[in-house]
Amino acid sequence: MKKIDVSILGCTGTVGQRLIEMLHNHPWFNIVSIAASERSASKAYKDAAINWYLPIDIPEDLRDMTVVNTDPGEAEAPLVFSALPSDTAKEVEGRFAEAGCAVTSNASAYRMEKDVPLIIPEINAEHLELIEVQRENREWKGYIVTDPNCTTIGLAMVLKPLHDRFKLDTVYVSTMQAISGAGLPGVQGLMITDNVIPYIKGEEQKVIGETRKILGKLESKQVNFADFKIACSCNRVSVVDGHTESVFIKTKEPVDIEEAKKVLRNFKGEPQKLNLPSAPKEPIIVREEENRPQPRLDRMAGTVPGMSASVGRIRPGFDEHTLLLTLISHNTIRGAAGAVVLNAELLYAKNFL
Ligand SMILES: NC(=O)c1ccc[n+]([C@@H]2O[C@H](COP(=O)([O-])OP(=O)(O)OC[C@H]3O[C@@H](n4cnc5c(N)ncnc54)[C@H](OP(=O)(O)O)[C@@H]3O)[C@@H](O)[C@H]2O)c1
Repeated sequence: MKKIDVSILGCTGTVGQRLIEMLHNHPWFNIVSIAASERSASKAYKDAAINWYLPIDIPEDLRDMTVVNTDPGEAEAPLVFSALPSDTAKEVEGRFAEAGCAVTSNASAYRMEKDVPLIIPEINAEHLELIEVQRENREWKGYIVTDPNCTTIGLAMVLKPLHDRFKLDTVYVSTMQAISGAGLPGVQGLMITDNVIPYIKGEEQKVIGETRKILGKLESKQVNFADFKIACSCNRVSVVDGHTESVFIKTKEPVDIEEAKKVLRNFKGEPQKLNLPSAPKEPIIVREEENRPQPRLDRMAGTVPGMSASVGRIRPGFDEHTLLLTLISHNTIRGAAGAVVLNAELLYAKNFL
């Protein structure tokens, strides 16, 4: 099979580095171009990615690849992975889509636009139909498909089977988010060591809006948002990778805890049916130990490391309509780079590329 040429925008950041790791040697995709800001352009990748933070070496064949500007003239490829900051992404991703590229984005810039699919392939692959609407609306030759915020992804994956079975009424989530979620250079050591910071700009609104869009229904070429109530408190903690979330759920139908565990364990979607290369066999891993999941022990869980959410402490609340649980998902793998790679694999398998 001939591999599809791909470009990575934002190749030097925390998500860009994960994209390098996941796309290097990918069975379907071939990195032909890597791009970042003017600070990095024209440098060899090894000299631009000076804050390399992954515990593997930069792949040998990419060390000397020249970083280019995030311009379609320089970094164009049929498939573009974007790990740009949101304000930059708004303008740059639009230009790539206009130029005819399929853009799969980590940034929040387009996520909530009505004609842009916000995809978790296990949940709402059918929302890809919005691509046709987007192309008509914007007269783009290409298109943009987005993944959710890193906190939303693990949460939405766990809520989906529970919503299908018990109908959600209210969700309240309190997060403990890893430092790598703040990008590079990130949070200052002096601020986060021995500390918890109870505010992450814009994060709570993203979780609230995106979760309801992803679990919404596509009807007459638009997404009608899921109608449960959701509130969120986001905290930054001194963990390198892996977001932890404590979740309280009120349901419309009575909940049986063993049944809840069963629907979570059995949850599967299009990636598993299509056997996509980055699809974990179990998107949700249910833990029975009283002290799991933990980020250090569980963030790389699953058949594709870092692509499964782990859930534990599933227990009754104060009546038969309430339950509590704790979940963990890897913010730069399932919550970012792995999410856009899985989206791209879905686009390929569904003939959108
Ligand atoms: N970190 C996470 O866990 C996570 C999870 C989900 C989504 N996201 C989203 O993914 C995106 C990337 O996040 P990150 O954490 O990887 O950020 P980051 O570490 O700050 O990296 C940003 C990347 O964008 C490049 N860049 C910055 N300004 C630019 C400009 N004006 N023009 C062109 N390139 C520019 C940087 O290049 P230089 O090195 O040259 O400056 C770098 O490669 C953001 O939208 C973020 O919200 C992040």
